[in-house]
Amino acid sequence: MSDAKALYLDLLKRALTNLIYQDRGLIEGETRPFDLRRRGEGEDWPEHAHTMIGIKRLDALHFCVEDVLDRGVPGDFIETGVWRGGACIFMRGVLKVRGVTDRIVWLADSFQGLPPPDVARYPQDAGLDFSHRKELAIPLEEVQENFRRYGLLDEQVQFLKGWFHDTLPGAPVERLAVLRLDGDLYQSTMDALTSLYPKLERGGYAIVDDYSIDACRQAVGDYRARHGISEEIVPIDWSGVLWRKESGRTA
Ligand SMILES: C[S@@+](CC[C@H](N)C(=O)[O-])C[C@H]1O[C@@H](n2cnc3c(N)ncnc32)[C@H](O)[C@@H]1O
Repeated sequence: MSDAKALYLDLLKRALTNLIYQDRGLIEGETRPFDLRRRGEGEDWPEHAHTMIGIKRLDALHFCVEDVLDRGVPGDFIETGVWRGGACIFMRGVLKVRGVTDRIVWLADSFQGLPPPDVARYPQDAGLDFSHRKELAIPLEEVQENFRRYGLLDEQVQFLKGWFHDTLPGAPVERLAVLRLDGDLYQSTMDALTSLYPKLERGGYAIVDDYSIDACRQAVGDYRARHGISEEIVPIDWSGVLWRKESGRTA
């Protein structure tokens, strides 16, 4: 990759995490001044930045996207749980600099925040009620406007609006090279894996943002156990993990 393309992607990460203008962030319900280490680690909910995943998880996403392109693993990219859209804006940016025109970045979200936990069906989600957190409810139009501001909103960006259990089973997504899960809850993680992991191509990546949350980690463990998935889980940072799919659909 040329120096200019690498510089663009580096600047994109800095802009998406707002290392440039350095906004405040919410940590455990309290608004705190910008803290470079915490933002880099994806520890706060930024006031303005377009992603909360931090630089390390953006770097990991960058690696996965470039790697599937380099190895010719077919398929689109999806994130389930997009918030302001920053991680997906980054994926679209990589496709742009690589001149890739035949892959779509899919954004699945309610665009109204998390569902209340369905404890009767998913007791693992007890105590995880984020449904009233208005900071997590970002309307679809705002996410589209964020893409527009980076000059990256076009037909290679597609939106799946609604609860995962409604939108994902029949989603018109055929094959995936990168599956990024960021829905926090057991239910949200399980719904996404159930509908989408079978569409992930061999050689593609599953990335889990919320492995630090017990409920999410349990959903990943239950799904992997049920389907005999034994690929090594590689830690990214204090919360994110990933693995490369080595069996199943043929690349
Ligand atoms: C932590 S945020 C995602 C952060 C984002 N990936 C980023 O780059 O900053 C979680 C998102 O998941 C969405 N979400 C969680 N569970 C969901 C579900 N079951 N159906 C639809 N959206 C869901 C919420 O609306 C919210 O936008």
